[in-house]
Amino acid sequence: MIDTPLGILQVGDCEPTLWFSLVVPTYNESKNVTRLVEVLTGILDRVLPQQYELIVVDDDSPDRTWAVAESLSACYPQLRVMRRQGERGLSSAVIRGWQVARGQILGVIDGDLQHPPETLVELLQAIAEGADLCVASRHVEGGGVSDWGVVRRFLSRGAQVLGLIILPRVVGRVSDPMSGYFLLRRSAIAGAVLHPLGYKILIEVLGRGQIERIAEVGYVFQERQAGESKVTWKQYVSYLGHLVRLRSRGRLGRIRERWQVPLTRLLRFGIVGLSGVVVDMLLLYVLSDPSMLGLGVTRSKVIAAEVAIINNFVWNDLWTFGDRARSQPGANARLKRFLKFNLVCLAGLLLSVVIIYLLFDRLGMNRYLANLVAIAIVTIWNFGINLQLNWRVTAVGKKP
Ligand code: GDD
Ligand code: MN
Repeated sequence: MIDTPLGILQVGDCEPTLWFSLVVPTYNESKNVTRLVEVLTGILDRVLPQQYELIVVDDDSPDRTWAVAESLSACYPQLRVMRRQGERGLSSAVIRGWQVARGQILGVIDGDLQHPPETLVELLQAIAEGADLCVASRHVEGGGVSDWGVVRRFLSRGAQVLGLIILPRVVGRVSDPMSGYFLLRRSAIAGAVLHPLGYKILIEVLGRGQIERIAEVGYVFQERQAGESKVTWKQYVSYLGHLVRLRSRGRLGRIRERWQVPLTRLLRFGIVGLSGVVVDMLLLYVLSDPSMLGLGVTRSKVIAAEVAIINNFVWNDLWTFGDRARSQPGANARLKRFLKFNLVCLAGLLLSVVIIYLLFDRLGMNRYLANLVAIAIVTIWNFGINLQLNWRVTAVGKKP
């Protein structure tokens, strides 16, 4: 049995030792797997003797499909079985299979005999003639579905139209983007990081692979003879999510790159700021409360505020801007940052007084609301100034 490789879903560019690896994803297909392996090996032994492997990727099916498949491997040396535990999903199963595949050409076929195995011969032929990807399609000549009802046809076509609207340049490249029966050259996806979601692995391959020449072969989607379909409404939802994600790839990534780091920092800065409020309050209580030390309020507040500033500085230097602090090491540099931090806080204090004056005295806003607004603005101000001036990336930091 094959070990499940964990980590990212990326198909490596290994030196292939076989011509063809066909992955069969299965979940509760114990009644189909024997017949399928028999038919597939019958065909492949004829057209590609010794040059192929079958990889059943089973997600620990309750009906023990994996055990049935393993029992077959004694008679079929070309058969490998992967029993995945702790991971589920058709698309990721296919990629896991391709990750352990040794073939130069990778393929996938359903494990329930709804994809006619004979079509493989034509698919292989098209690849041999130079296609990067060859898709078995229900929507070209020779293709079709058995006896699907109106609702099922409508849902299937509806999904395709949706795909054409959201992702025209990907979905529009093939006539049957929902197909789970296709072959491709390993080189077309080697190195691409795949993020499969739900059922539709072909869309992922089209969206992220380097695919130039595409061929299609018609096939008739057969009725299930045994077992049952695993499709539920969830697959429709994840299909939609998949389309949206593929559409925004790149663009979303760039937006995230630009904003994610400052946002994380701002969040940390806010948390540190809150801890400072707690320190300030506690100290004010301990120093000035008559039942405690009973010092004067003004003096107590000055001490409390400074200790809070020290607290905030320490955490910001270690955590919020820790990466930048580490690129400017040394006690001297730290002291400089600390003094600057004090200055920025002082400026922030003045700013908050001005804001409260404007909102409360001039505009008549509720004083606590005005204070909240002032705190929010000053936090962002403090953050921005500290980011730009204090924990900034210096030229030295950039080019070590
Ligand atoms: N390993 C694994 N894990 N296999 C799974 C899982 C899973 O979570 N879910 C489903 N499978 C396997 C099934 O056992 C079957 O071999 C294959 O994936 C397809 O699943 P079905 O549930 O039979 O899907 P279908 O026939 O309704 O849907 C098919 O629709 C397309 C045509 O629109 C898809 O499977 C496509 O491959 C097909 O072309
Ligand atoms: Mn099926």
